[in-house]
Order: sequence, then structure tokens, then C-alpha cells
Amino acid sequence: MTTLVAVHGDITAQATDVIVNAANNAMRGGGGVDGAIHRAGGPAILRDCIARFPHGLATGDAGWTTAGALPAKWVVHTVGPNYGAGQRDRRLLESCYRRSLEVADELGARSVAFPLISAGVYAWPRREAIATAIDTIALTPTSAEEVRLVAFDEGAHREISSALVMTTSVRILQGVRELHRRGYHGIRVRPGIAPSGMYWRAVLSDVDHPDTTIQYTSGAETEFAGGVVDAMTPPAAVADLILRALPSAEAASGDPAYADWFAGLVALVEPEHALPVSFAEYFDDSDGWEIGWGSGVRYPAPPGGSGH
Ligand code: APR
Repeated sequence: MTTLVAVHGDITAQATDVIVNAANNAMRGGGGVDGAIHRAGGPAILRDCIARFPHGLATGDAGWTTAGALPAKWVVHTVGPNYGAGQRDRRLLESCYRRSLEVADELGARSVAFPLISAGVYAWPRREAIATAIDTIALTPTSAEEVRLVAFDEGAHREISSALVMTTSVRILQGVRELHRRGYHGIRVRPGIAPSGMYWRAVLSDVDHPDTTIQYTSGAETEFAGGVVDAMTPPAAVADLILRALPSAEAASGDPAYADWFAGLVALVEPEHALPVSFAEYFDDSDGWEIGWGSGVRYPAPPGGSGH
């Protein structure tokens, strides 16, 4: 079981087996995290970089060196895509997290500390950089027991902490999509914002038994349907929790239009974890649902009318 936590601090101070460096293709040091790690770890790291990576390292790839004087055992260097220079393929950023965990596994690391790759000098928009980090770490099988997302500044730490909590809401939507894939097209979600404006809410039900519902509020954080759903919970496990709470739901693949519509909604939510809103104070849903409260991005209301 791997835990994913947000840490506010300096990545060079993390006493994890592996510290991940946001390097560049040359692999000879630099600024930001790269500079901090080489400064704190000492010249042994650079010597190892030269010996092990004579031709540098490709964007999206990862490779390890000694950690020198750092409290960690190894540094895993990875090269993020440079958003500012036009490298905007998110799959390259995902590859940094996936390859770093693969290398950490090869080393037998039990704990890994990541900075927000590409979110500094390489100017990747922070919200998407965080969502990419969380979802790639969640989807990558690893023998690491603890993965840390380390934020240097308080603002980034708050954003990562909040994103981790709100990922429960994304996993619930992905769990419903998983149920539709299993043929439970009757599972419905009504998402919205609580009157306080503070919390995202979702009411889940089976269209043939609308009186039995699952109510979720982001105020409950990871408590959902009598179980726990956090950023690391696979959608398949969320789907099982929903079925346990809606026992009368039947796998009747009778509404592919709704299932397709819902899959399109989740595809818009996932890149930045922008949650859908179908109700809120003063919310006019005549233009459809909103993807991300206040974003102005609309998605047509579900087929079959009746708002859900
Ligand atoms: N500890 C933790 N996080 C840090 C630290 C630190 N000591 N220093 C910076 N950060 C944060 C930044 O605030 C940013 O959110 O790490 C994230 C990554 O920032 P960068 O280090 O600028 O990395 P990146 O955006 O991937 O750019 C890589 O910058 O440092 C050079 O040589 C590096 O050319 C490469 C480029």
C-alpha cells in the first residue's frame, strides 16, 4: 500500500531513500531544485552525473546517482518538459514520474520525495503539474511505501494539499465511469456546490431506484460510501464501494448514450481535476453543467433531460 503525502519543505532535507531531482538534459546541474541538490549533496553527485550520463538524459527519462552528502540514499534525476520552450506534451511530464518510480523500484527504495517537476523554471502551469503528479503516481505500480510531493513555498504546499483532498472527488467520478464500463449505465451523479460555497457535493443513485442515494461532500474529505477513498484509491475500488452502497443497481447496459456523455464529462475533469457543477446558489444550468466552479466552461446537460 503506497501513501502519497504533501510536504512543505526543502527537498534536500527529505530523509527518504530517494530524492528526485528536476534536472535538465545536460545533467550537469543548474538552478532551482537541481542547484539545491548539487549544492547540498556536494561534488560527488556531479561526478556521478558525468560518469553515468556522459551524453545527458532525455526529457521524460530518469536515472540515478549517489546522493553524496544528502540524507537520502540516492538521487533519481529526471528531466521535465520545458513548457516555456513549447514542450507541452503532458505525456512527457507523466513519464518523469513513472520512470522515476521505476528507477526507485530498481534500487529497492521504500520512500521517494518528488518536487513538482517542470513547475518552476520550466513554467508548467502549477494546477496541471500537480494533477499530473498525483494521477501518475497513483497509476504507477511501485514498491515504494511512501511517496512525498515536496513543496518549497507555502502556496504550492497549500495547492498540493488541497488537490490531494479534492482528488477523492475525481476518483468518485472515475468510479462511476468504471461502473458504466461494467454495464451499470443506471448509475447517476448529481454534482454541485453546497450553499456555503465551500464544498463540492455529489449525490449518487441508481436511476431505477432513485430513493437510495449516496451523498458525498468534500468536507468529509476521504470518507465515502462507508469506506475511504483517497488519491491512491483505484477507480475499480471506488466502483465496488458504490455497488455495495447501491445493492439494487443492476448491470443493464441499456443507456450507452448516458455512459458516453458521462465519459466525456470525466475526460474534461481529469486534466486539472476541475470538478463538474450542476447545481449551486444562483447557478443557471440552462447552458449545461460547468466544468470547474466559476470557470465558465460548460458541458451539455445529460441526455434524457431531467438534469441527471
Ligand atoms: N525544494 C523543493 N522544491 C523546490 C526547491 C527545493 N529546494 N527549489 C525549487 N523548488 C520547486 C520550485 O518552486 C518548483 O515548484 O520545485 C519545482 C521545480 O522547479 P525547478 O527546480 O525550476 O525545476 P523545473 O521547473 O523542472 O526546471 C528545471 O531548472 O533548475 C533548473 O537545471 C534545472 O534546467 C533545469 C530546470
